[in-house]
Amino acid sequence: MKATAIAGANIALIKYWGRADDRINLPLTNSVSLTLDKLTTRTTVEFDTSLRSDTLAINGAPQSGRSLARVVGVMDRIRDRAKTTAHARIASTNSFAAAAGMASSASAFAALPTAAFAALGVRLSPEELSAFARLGSGSACRSVLGGFVEWVAGTDHATSVAQQIAPASHMDLHDVVLVFSDEEKAVKSAEGHAFAKTSPLNLGRLTAVADMLPRLRAAIAARDLSAMGEIAEQDALLMHSVMMTSSPSLAYWKAETIEGIHAVRRWRAEGLPCYFTIDAGPNLHVLVEGSRAPEVVRRARETFRLPPERIVDAGPGEGARLVPDHLF
Ligand code: DP6
Repeated sequence: MKATAIAGANIALIKYWGRADDRINLPLTNSVSLTLDKLTTRTTVEFDTSLRSDTLAINGAPQSGRSLARVVGVMDRIRDRAKTTAHARIASTNSFAAAAGMASSASAFAALPTAAFAALGVRLSPEELSAFARLGSGSACRSVLGGFVEWVAGTDHATSVAQQIAPASHMDLHDVVLVFSDEEKAVKSAEGHAFAKTSPLNLGRLTAVADMLPRLRAAIAARDLSAMGEIAEQDALLMHSVMMTSSPSLAYWKAETIEGIHAVRRWRAEGLPCYFTIDAGPNLHVLVEGSRAPEVVRRARETFRLPPERIVDAGPGEGARLVPDHLF
């Protein structure tokens, strides 16, 4: 009745922004990401028929309110699927300091159903597990699988799932994260999705994404960093254009974000093939071949005077998996 899973964060090359169905996090479009080997969450779930409700501790701190409610919502769907009414003790720890300003929900909600179904002795395919991860946080469904992953938008719970495009070993693509700010964002992505449709640019972005998806799949198959990078930059700029022009307007960038965009373009002109992408926050993700990642780290340290703990060099990672060492 007890199992522990570990899962990594992921960085989207074509983003998930905007939902077709808020209740079950159906996206407006497919998205594509790389699962990372850093920024992991480890989660232990133990079902106990004597418990009257689920309990949750994150990094040792007991949770209540919204953070507990979000997990209980997913646990209720897991109980329905496994045909049980038992509640669970859940504990979760992140490999990165909460202060790192990195979202932990993708890794957390990928680890949760992986551990919970294993604790119940119910074996699901990674695709079906990804659907349960999606219920907690849309982007989490992509972290259930390793390497390059496409989240197929689908039309209902069963069809909106993540699928692997290529394993982690396919290409040594790194995401060097420059953590410019660790402040909590004013509008969480969970709420921001609702505004996407209010931007006059949203339909334009969706049209562009439909064109970019097959090109990105081909670029990944060909291990073509420049083609992948150009698409990733284009979609990050499209997504942030939608964010900035929605009602309300969401402006996630800081001055350093724009300086970072210019720096990446300068480094590229100087012969270092690297590309940027940006999530719902001010931090810059620099996409680069693993062998050249240390150069990006060095240049970022010099240009932005970032302390070592504010630069995370992450490589391709495996999907969510069971591990023997429980948290309690
Ligand atoms: C901008 O609703 O999955 O990162 O639950 O806050 O992790 P959280 O976010 P979610 O939206 C993620 C949006 C994004 C783009 C992406 O990862 O595709």
